[in-house]
Amino acid sequence: MDGVPTPLRCFNEYHSAEMLVDDGVETVTSVEQKKVERSIKEVVSVYKQMHSLPQPTLLREQHYQYLKKGLRHLSDAYECLDASRPWLCFWILHSLELLEEPIPTAVASDVCQFLSRCQSPTGGFSGGPGQHAHLAPTYAAVNALCIIGTEESYNIIDRKKLLDFLLSVKQPNGSFVMHVGGEVDVRSAYCAASVATLTNILTPKLFEDTATWILSCQNWEGGLSGVPGLEAHGGYTFCGTAALVILGKEHMLDLKALLRWVVSRQMRFEGGFQGRSNKLVDGCYSFWQAGLLPLLHRALFKEGESELSRQHWMFEQQALQEYILLCCQNPGGGLVDKPGKSRDFYHTCYCLSGLSIAQHFGNMDLHHEMILGEEENRLAPTHPVYNICPEKVSKALQHFHQLPLPRQPGPLAPDHLES
Ligand code: FPP
Ligand code: ZN
Repeated sequence: MDGVPTPLRCFNEYHSAEMLVDDGVETVTSVEQKKVERSIKEVVSVYKQMHSLPQPTLLREQHYQYLKKGLRHLSDAYECLDASRPWLCFWILHSLELLEEPIPTAVASDVCQFLSRCQSPTGGFSGGPGQHAHLAPTYAAVNALCIIGTEESYNIIDRKKLLDFLLSVKQPNGSFVMHVGGEVDVRSAYCAASVATLTNILTPKLFEDTATWILSCQNWEGGLSGVPGLEAHGGYTFCGTAALVILGKEHMLDLKALLRWVVSRQMRFEGGFQGRSNKLVDGCYSFWQAGLLPLLHRALFKEGESELSRQHWMFEQQALQEYILLCCQNPGGGLVDKPGKSRDFYHTCYCLSGLSIAQHFGNMDLHHEMILGEEENRLAPTHPVYNICPEKVSKALQHFHQLPLPRQPGPLAPDHLES
């Protein structure tokens, strides 16, 4: 903020008044919540004892070393992610781009070759070589290839087969299954819409009835659930809202109910976000929840909601940055869900993505960044729809828009010509 040190909440109002009061009725939930609040209080008090000048620092070098190593070597702990290997590529590459660390050419090329081995002969990408195509690793692989952003990386994607794969998982009611024979939920609509736009294979037929299906996931709470009728959750709410933004139908949501739901998920004491009502804070929701706010801000502006959209401030950007910088950094590099948890690449990616959102929110309209701490804490901005850097989105769109839409099988004409 123009070089003026920002006073930290922990030095003034980071106080017990914000902590949970259970009125003497203890439940499993209230006990867990109080435990987390106590652990955060402890972190803040240790921090106060150690630092006379309250400027939390992003441990850039430590995060960089942790990420660089992860691109070449993973510990046994990652065995359980054997069906999510393109995700590891995306989480690490995106974290590096947020830190503005270049990816060495040889590493980028090795990642491309690895991802090409994950591409299924029938289209889309799988969690690892020889596995079946699935929408989640397809999204991760396309994002990773767009972050690399070279001819080599773009040319790996077989767009014709990717479209065949997307059509094979499309359901008659507009939803998508995650893989052939798999489950339906709103993640799949987002993964499909994201890869289809980035690679320029989006046809109206592919997303026929999808917006209506996603809209039916918004419930009385204001957020969206994975499938109609369940509990609203930040992960699904982000996916549904971002997919609707891609499809140009976000105005059909109850935007004010959604806004109220998401801002209520920011924890009054912790400063970070919870995923759903009455659950615990978690660093990864710094992106899934706070990432909704730029999407909502733009949607409200388009709807002419002048009061809300002129508002630069929509959530406690500073409190979120404090939570991430004070409570989610592992001193040896990597970020975590909450104090006491182990680091991993998923939380590293989404804590950093959320930190970027909190630093740059409102920047587009007001040329105003809110960087807590030194300028060195500044991350690159992220695109709130795709969660890769905006230049990489533009570059991919530019590249793939020079290519024609793949032809679809049909008696008369490609389906995109029919509508
Ligand atoms: C609850 O876990 C988590 C979910 C029900 C799913 C979350 C979905 C995402 C994070 C979105 C994924 C996005 C893509 C693009 C695939 P939990 O019960 O362990 O956590 P909680 O207590 O915080 O709710
Ligand atoms: Zn998490």
